[in-house]
Amino acid sequence: MHISTSILLLVGLASVASTAVADEQPLVRAPFYRRTTRANWIRNRVAMAKRDGQSTIFNDQGSQYLLDVNIGTPGQTFTVAMDTGSADLWVPSSQCPASQCPFSRFNSGNSSSFQSSGSSFNIQYGIGSVNGTYAIDTVSVGGINVSNQQFGLATSTADILTNPQSSSDGTGKSSSMQSNGILGLGYPQLTAQASKTGKPYNPVVFNMVSQNLISQPVFSIYMNSLTADSGEIVFGGVDNTKFTGNLVYLPVVAMSQSALTSTGTYYYWMVYGQSIGVTGGQRDTTVNFTTSASSSKTGSSSNKALIFDTGTTLTYLPTAMAEQLMSSITSNYEYDAASGVYAVDCALQNSNASFVLSMASSSSPTTSPVTLTIPVSSMVIPVTNNVCMFGLARMDSTSAIGNTMYLIGDSFLRSAYLVFDMGQNRIGIAAANGVGGSVNGVTASSTSAANTLGSSSILAAAAIAVLSSALFF
Ligand SMILES: *[C@@H]1O[C@H](CO)[C@@H](O)[C@H](O)[C@H]1NC(C)=O
Ligand SMILES: *[C@@H]1O[C@H](CO)[C@@H](O)[C@H](O)[C@H]1NC(C)=O
Ligand SMILES: *[C@@H]1O[C@H](CO)[C@@H](O)[C@H](O)[C@H]1NC(C)=O
Ligand SMILES: *[C@@H]1O[C@H](CO)[C@@H](O)[C@H](O)[C@H]1NC(C)=O
Ligand SMILES: *[C@@H]1O[C@H](CO)[C@@H](O)[C@H](O)[C@H]1NC(C)=O
Repeated sequence: MHISTSILLLVGLASVASTAVADEQPLVRAPFYRRTTRANWIRNRVAMAKRDGQSTIFNDQGSQYLLDVNIGTPGQTFTVAMDTGSADLWVPSSQCPASQCPFSRFNSGNSSSFQSSGSSFNIQYGIGSVNGTYAIDTVSVGGINVSNQQFGLATSTADILTNPQSSSDGTGKSSSMQSNGILGLGYPQLTAQASKTGKPYNPVVFNMVSQNLISQPVFSIYMNSLTADSGEIVFGGVDNTKFTGNLVYLPVVAMSQSALTSTGTYYYWMVYGQSIGVTGGQRDTTVNFTTSASSSKTGSSSNKALIFDTGTTLTYLPTAMAEQLMSSITSNYEYDAASGVYAVDCALQNSNASFVLSMASSSSPTTSPVTLTIPVSSMVIPVTNNVCMFGLARMDSTSAIGNTMYLIGDSFLRSAYLVFDMGQNRIGIAAANGVGGSVNGVTASSTSAANTLGSSSILAAAAIAVLSSALFF
């Protein structure tokens, strides 16, 4: 989705270490490093347009998780944001004016493997938009070379690579501190081309599978804690040193004509969610996501879908739900209408309260949900010395996103080790090490475990440096 906020994470792909192991396909591990700085409170309202409808939210602060991709022969390097909430890869074209594409730009004339495609693309994200043309070339991520990969070359961008507010924070960011494109990790049907013409194409990670470049059709993400220096994305397997306990799998929710279904098409990485609760705060509470009986003619209840979106910093729920949760945690919070986020006392970092997110394997509420428990303290994001913002924000919308689907952003996802399984269309979650969360529940139907990343099975490991700058938006 890419509703990115101010704590900008930066990645420079450092090195590709290879330890050859016969008969095994590569599992690629890409750690990222981050540096967090404080920033001013931002009050920048941003209109948000989505392909399936329109709603308005406010920009806020948070982070982007970035990694390097190389495109063309020889490779031209771009630092892009890792976004499970969209599906296209795009980078700036040399035809994009420097005012809109201020960092490195792709020069197609310099690539011997470049093929033009001629079709145009347009993507609206939560924070801005990009227009350009599709092209085809070799794309390399973490040392894996995907050939004949379709991607976008941006010829114009608005509010994605540039930010009118950035000069006001006085941080003097260098170009290496910002993303220079987006790597979408969503399903083929979520690409802008599928949206426009009905013809999906394979995003980079799906071509890694179809071209047999990774040993398992999965990629796994460890974001690490808000203040940690390193995280990791693994292509082709699971790094079992990054989580505790078992991976519990939930099926990806499909859609058909904007309705959630078990037989439709996959677009987003999303699972069924049925409630979220708070324990250990001022008082315990539970918010049911399930459709209330009064609003359902049949009286039956149905779970909502939770989009796991690494491109969105915060987690968004309708106002009534967000308020119910906030007030049960603390009485010391304030909604900042200008920025759209909750300001909290930084002392909430000492809270012993927890969120409990309950998820299910089907649209029907279950008495034995899979739960992800997250310390409230991990949701407290420093802004100034005594002002913190909270990782939960409001989104009121009558479109599908915000109404039947909720955006679960980095503030929640950080607590989980996440395995995105393209082969079995499921998401594995476990308690990420060092973040204080926990996962309970069992995988509904028995399925084979994904390959784990052991040192003996690493063919290529790519180091990704992630830094966070101060305020960006
Ligand atoms: C790429 O092409 C431009 C002109 O099209 C040229 O100035 C530049 O030197 C080329 N770069 C490389 C690395 O070949
Ligand atoms: C990927 O391509 C680069 C540059 O063309 C090459 O140096 C590298 O060996 C390739 N990697 C693999 C795994 O084929
Ligand atoms: C992209 O094109 C759309 C529709 O033609 C337009 O509304 C939008 O402003 C354009 N965005 C940019 C960044 O040029
Ligand atoms: C929430 O749903 C559960 C069952 O799914 C039900 O037992 C409980 O009473 C509901 N709570 C509220 C406040 O509606
Ligand atoms: C959290 O629990 C610890 C240990 O039980 C206690 O010392 C501390 O005061 C608690 N914090 C709050 C905010 O209640």
